[in-house]
Amino acid sequence: MVKTLYKYILKPILFRFDPEFIHNLFTSRGRLLGRFRLTRSILKNAFRYDSPSLHQEIAGIKFKNPVGLAAGFDYDGKLTEVLESIGFGFQSIGTVTYSPYEGNSKPRLARLPKSKSLLVNKGFKSDGIEKVLNRNVREWNETFKVGISIGATNSKECSTPKAQIEDIIKSFSYLKSHKLLERFSYLELNISCPNVLGSGSLADTENLEDVLSKIKELGIDKPIFVKFQLEIEWEKARKLIEIIIKYGVEAIIIANLLKQREGSEIRKEELESVKNLKGNFSGKPTFNLSNELIEKTYREFGDRIKIVGLGGIFNAEDAYEKIKRGASLVQLITGMIYEGPQVIGDINRGLERLLRKDGYKSVDEAVGSAVK
Ligand SMILES: Cc1cc2nc3c(=O)[nH]c(=O)nc-3n(C[C@H](O)[C@H](O)[C@H](O)COP(=O)(O)O)c2cc1C
Repeated sequence: MVKTLYKYILKPILFRFDPEFIHNLFTSRGRLLGRFRLTRSILKNAFRYDSPSLHQEIAGIKFKNPVGLAAGFDYDGKLTEVLESIGFGFQSIGTVTYSPYEGNSKPRLARLPKSKSLLVNKGFKSDGIEKVLNRNVREWNETFKVGISIGATNSKECSTPKAQIEDIIKSFSYLKSHKLLERFSYLELNISCPNVLGSGSLADTENLEDVLSKIKELGIDKPIFVKFQLEIEWEKARKLIEIIIKYGVEAIIIANLLKQREGSEIRKEELESVKNLKGNFSGKPTFNLSNELIEKTYREFGDRIKIVGLGGIFNAEDAYEKIKRGASLVQLITGMIYEGPQVIGDINRGLERLLRKDGYKSVDEAVGSAVK
């Protein structure tokens, strides 16, 4: 019912407006709905699906279900109160940067509906860590798990690896002495945003080692997750993952946006329509590449690190594919925008059905089951 309503009535209207305007509208309405127990409970009844077979403990964190909101949707931390009601098990706030940044120049978001993708060029638009933690983020239930993604401020001063690392460490230090730290379940280090100045420089063995060792020196008692890039040669990925494991990172999030245009799974006419726009792609065109990287990572490192899989999840089958390739948890953004907010509950319900069909009692039994 909600699905039909979203697909045939709401979406055609929403998709007539500028994507960023709609995103801001949803964020402000979502924030408001999250304020009151009554609206939260109405949403929960309409959307959320719970089942013990979806529970898992990863990195000491007890997740009620494996479906999370990825970094990039609630980038200023305004939706912590409402996301559990619409069905999510967890979320990554952010990416948050130390200093505020108004974002890359507009337009920085475009829809490619035939390719089930979005073109993204926000470049870490952020209110900055101080405002996010002190003014934006509101309380959330203990049962809902919240992490915060940290990246380097997107500015000229922060475009060298050294400056980026210093900036990231300033954010982690700020978090360390903040009262909200206790409430966060994990801290996410973003080394993979393709649309910022100096992009990719932290995905280098020396710089990655430098930033992770400095984070470790801070002695923050929280699991660290690292958000990885999508397009990377396996030899290079392997070296980076070794470093990530060496520094005790609990989970690797695979993966970020797609840079490649030619030869990708984006429809030709839609590529043509955005040829003058900068940015990188989310959604379906990332699905297969992310699955391949998840599988390779699981095959070689599955016994040493947990995987959070994302990229192009639109339904339970897509999520289950990532789980069978080795992901313990999944995240999404684009699928929710195209399918509607009920998709989170639908994915959880569908996952339970798929687990049962394959004879598994819980998600963790299915993790990596397709990897020989
Ligand atoms: C509008 C938008 C903004 C994003 N911003 C961020 C970000 O700030 N940090 C980050 O790590 N990833 C960001 N991403 C990437 C997503 O977290 C995710 O890796 C990617 O979109 C693939 O997942 P999806 O196909 O479910 O959207 C963004 C994606 C979108 C669509």
